[in-house]
This record gives sequence, C-alpha cells and structure tokens, in this order.
Amino acid sequence: MSDEKQLSLFDLPVNDDSEEVLTSAQTNFIPKDAKIPIPAGTYLSMTQLAKHCNECYRCELGASRTHAVVGRGNLQANLMIIGEAPGQHEDETGLPFVGRSGQLLEKILASVGFNSEQDIYICNINKCRPPENRVPTPQEIAACKPYLLEQIRLVDPKVILLTGATSVKALTGNKSAISKIRGTWIEWEGRLCMPIFHPSYLLRNPSQEKGSPKWLMWQDIQAVRAKLDEL
Ligand code: URA
Repeated sequence: MSDEKQLSLFDLPVNDDSEEVLTSAQTNFIPKDAKIPIPAGTYLSMTQLAKHCNECYRCELGASRTHAVVGRGNLQANLMIIGEAPGQHEDETGLPFVGRSGQLLEKILASVGFNSEQDIYICNINKCRPPENRVPTPQEIAACKPYLLEQIRLVDPKVILLTGATSVKALTGNKSAISKIRGTWIEWEGRLCMPIFHPSYLLRNPSQEKGSPKWLMWQDIQAVRAKLDEL
C-alpha cells in the first residue's frame, strides 16, 4: 500500500462542533412548509441549527433577512432568555438583544450578578426580523418553533425567562396578559419558566416608583437569581 493510501486510513469525519456528521436528508432538506415538523433530535449542535436557520425559508421572513439571529451566550447555561424576534440591529449583526432593549436587558442581568456571556443563553422565538418590527404572525411562529425547541433541548436550561406576552404564548400557549403572569413560576414541559416584561416595555415606561414596570422587573430578576442559587 502506498504511504498516501495508508495514511488515509487515519481519515475520520471531522467531529468538532461545526462539522458533525448529519445524514444527507438532514443537511439537504429543510421543509419549506411550516406545517411539516422538524423532529426533536435533528440537530447535533447549535452550529448545525444556525446553518439551517440561515438557509431557511419555512416562512416569508427568510426572504428579507440579512442574518438569521439564532442566539448568543453560554450553550450550557442554566438560564435561558427567550425574546420575541430580532430588530434592525439584531438583523444586521446576527446577534439577539444588541439594540437598546438588549442594553437594558444587560443592565438588568448585571444588577444581580449575571454575565450574559457566561451565565445565560439568549435567543428569540423567531430567528428572522419581521418587517417594521411587527409582531410575528402565528404562521411565522409555528414555522420557527422547531428551531427554538431544538435550542432548548441542546442547551437544557434549568430556568427559562420569557420576555413579553408573545414569547409566553408562543412557547407555552398561555394567553394571559403579561401584567398578570409576570413574576410567577410556570411549568412548561417539566421546565421552570418565568414570564417577565419585555425590556422594550420598560424603555417606554421609565418610572422607577414602587409598583412601576421597572420596579416589578427588579423584584422578578431578584427572584430568578434566588431560584438559580437554590437549584
Ligand atoms: N427584541 C427581542 O425580542 N429580541 C431581540 O433580539 C431584540 C429585541
């Protein structure tokens, strides 16, 4: 056997996070119809999932995106934060919560000692920006939901924070007003979730008076900190 042939016996599929082996059915086929599910267990890594999100046209938002916004932070975090959908800055950078809402979210997290890169994984219900930042439609949410469910499976967080009523409804089906359910623990698929106000709501309501949205957020984030310290 030639040296070259013998050496080729050492060839293995590259098995780092970016190149894990998928079947051709998985790599080549993203169902275009939102009603066709993407089964749990499809993705071996977040890198594979992100690649598919950037090639996805399961809904019309794919046509206008600059980047799919998949997530940022620690892939093994105990705490996951799920927002609604990317805005302009997120679409431009490919990173969730990097605009004004994101800056406020960072401050809220830092106030109880969370570091968004180390302690948290942040993502959204929808990976592509809706035009004019409108609320994603039920069809757009359904089309994107399998990616979110895979993200939750891969990160396996102990606690999930859902920012705003759209995120709560999209993940859990709970249609309650956010002012009614924020700060309460709800169980979804065996996981502990807390609805919280969306940071953009706090930007529109800057009062810090007792009972104001910002004051309530301060109560909620302290409860989240205490829960994670206890778990
Ligand atoms: N609002 C969201 O819900 N998500 C983002 O990523 C940015 C703003």
